[in-house]
Amino acid sequence: MGVEIRVEGLTKAFGRQVIWDDVSLTLPAGEISVLLGPSGTGKSVFLKTLVGLLRPERGHIWIGDRDLPRLSEHLLYETRKLFGVLFQDGALFGSMSLYDNIAFPLREHTKKSEAEIKRIVMEKMEMVGLIGAERKLPGEISGGMRKRAGLARALVLEPEIILFDEPDSGLDPVRTAYLNQLIVDLNAETEATFLIVTHDVNTARTVPDNIGLLFRRELVMFGPREMLLSSDEPVVRQFLNARKHGPIGMSEEKDISELEAEAELGHDPGRLPPIPPQLMPSDGRIRRTQQPPGAWLRAHGVTPPPGSFIDDVGRNWVDEWPRYVAAMTPAPVADAWPAGPASGGPASPGGSSPGGSRPGGGPPGGPAGGRGR
Ligand SMILES: Nc1ncnc2c1ncn2[C@@H]1O[C@H](COP(=O)(O)OP(=O)(O)O)[C@@H](O)[C@H]1O
Ligand SMILES: [Mg+2]
Repeated sequence: MGVEIRVEGLTKAFGRQVIWDDVSLTLPAGEISVLLGPSGTGKSVFLKTLVGLLRPERGHIWIGDRDLPRLSEHLLYETRKLFGVLFQDGALFGSMSLYDNIAFPLREHTKKSEAEIKRIVMEKMEMVGLIGAERKLPGEISGGMRKRAGLARALVLEPEIILFDEPDSGLDPVRTAYLNQLIVDLNAETEATFLIVTHDVNTARTVPDNIGLLFRRELVMFGPREMLLSSDEPVVRQFLNARKHGPIGMSEEKDISELEAEAELGHDPGRLPPIPPQLMPSDGRIRRTQQPPGAWLRAHGVTPPPGSFIDDVGRNWVDEWPRYVAAMTPAPVADAWPAGPASGGPASPGGSSPGGSRPGGGPPGGPAGGRGR
């Protein structure tokens, strides 16, 4: 499951207003990527261009050997079925129950029987934790539930690619944490290719495999999470660390004199904050595309800032990882090694494990204990 999308030299303008120019990036199959950027930089326009709702002025969007902007109406219609989209406000029909909203794409695009539709709708509603709310109208539920209903609707056609437009906007930090956990769990489950548009720095720091940053009409950088979180590029650094110091100003870019004044005053961007461990699926499994913590940094000879990869309870996930993988990978001789005090396992990291059958005692990140299933 999951397909790669290759964007090459993409440019979008409305009349003479260029939104972004010459954007190139590859969304690797099955991975979670985040597109970050200040409001108004054209993130939503980018998503709409990817699904073919807007036509770019130049460039290519390759999915396999199909170049989206150059497809016939018929092929574009077919290719769009690969996508599930969670629009910013959920985009639900206000007069329809959640059940009918979620069933809508199935009734519209398939010839499935109502019994089959019911099975699928209930399965997706369960995945997003909406069982019991079938008959509710969108206006009767909270913003977080509307997002989850929109997500269930985006899932019913079993998409290979899921695009999320600011899933965390308008949610409080706890709801955002739950939704982020749900997104990671869904990626583990579906192995689809995910692209999340957000301006929430915390989401960008903890959820994805890859991060891209849109700024000043261009894609400043796109690459593995650890590459951007350790980057010295001023815009990337300022944005990913939510700092006042840097090229991004309150209303628009700071002008040169302001930047020079800052430099003269000796403001410096300060030390990079620690890189947090990546959010894991709540059932503790390892996503197929997940890289070991610190792997990119090691491969590129980069030393992470002090305190990196340490979770809320003080475990260092670079050390913890081999034991975690060993515990999560089904052994050929099951139960041959009784769970107990660490001995004989892979290098024990300084006795930081609280003990128990699962080394590390649970995945890092996520709201207390993660979502139950
Ligand atoms: N259909 C459209 N016609 C003309 N301008 C548009 C259209 N859609 C978006 N824009 C403009 O494109 C810019 C980027 O918008 P948007 O993608 O919504 O930003 P973001 O999602 O990053 O906040 C804005 O200046 C907006 O006014
Ligand atoms: Mg937007």
